[in-house]
Amino acid sequence: MGLFGKWFRKLRVGAFTAEDMERMRADDDELPSGDNIPKHVAIIMDGNGRWAKMRGLPRIAGHHNGMKAVKRITKAADRVGVEVLTLYAFSTENWKRPKAEVEFLMKLPQEFLAIELEELIENNVQVRMMGDRGQLPDHTVAAVEEAVRRTAHNTGLILNFALNYGSRHEMLEAVKEVARQAAAGKVDPEALEEADFEKRLLSSGLPDPDLLIRTSGELRLSNFMLWQLAYSEFWFTDVFWPEFGERHLYDAIREYQRRARRYGGL
Ligand code: FPP
Repeated sequence: MGLFGKWFRKLRVGAFTAEDMERMRADDDELPSGDNIPKHVAIIMDGNGRWAKMRGLPRIAGHHNGMKAVKRITKAADRVGVEVLTLYAFSTENWKRPKAEVEFLMKLPQEFLAIELEELIENNVQVRMMGDRGQLPDHTVAAVEEAVRRTAHNTGLILNFALNYGSRHEMLEAVKEVARQAAAGKVDPEALEEADFEKRLLSSGLPDPDLLIRTSGELRLSNFMLWQLAYSEFWFTDVFWPEFGERHLYDAIREYQRRARRYGGL
């Protein structure tokens, strides 16, 4: 069943309710359009813990509902023609959290993919992961790698999970590789260009994010894609990630469409 499967199924059986019609009209009114839809949207999904606390729930309930938002926003991004959606799911600094929370977070990709992988495949979504696989539990890596392998030939939306990702670590590793190759005489440091560095980053092959979104009212980058975000447009919202919906994404995109990107020019 594709993205609009639910509607098509109802269309076939002629089962639209007044509520459905209203919802579709509202959806259409809200949908950003035009040729300047951001190709790559990157999101720092923040506020799961506070969302849960406000409801008297354990933090993991916030993460669990955050997982539902991942599904919602993946569909919404695909629907408007975003080509790459990068989601910051776990940073290299998140290991400092209590063990039980880390363990829960490590199970989420597995749970998400167990429920969603077939639909992602049907919808032509390509799953990728950027981050250091070394420290991750085997079950997390196995689930993500299965999804990466089974969607590798898909040509639709790229859903890129930043998992055990840290931008400084990523850049340091790239620098080490360049240094090793220079020491071996394989690279001339003076001839090195930005593109040569970029291809050694974990985001290699992806365009830089056009739009960065951070939820929950925090105004910082938290070691996320520091190189790649050099010319991105930033959009912040107070909304906590578990309640971030299609409307918020579309608001962000419409605001992006109103901005003039000058890349340092006039
Ligand atoms: C930050 O909120 C959120 C995280 C560290 C985890 C993000 C993970 C998800 C949204 C689920 C990922 C799902 C998949 C499928 C990989 P926080 O806990 O720091 O919130 P707080 O600042 O309110 O405490």
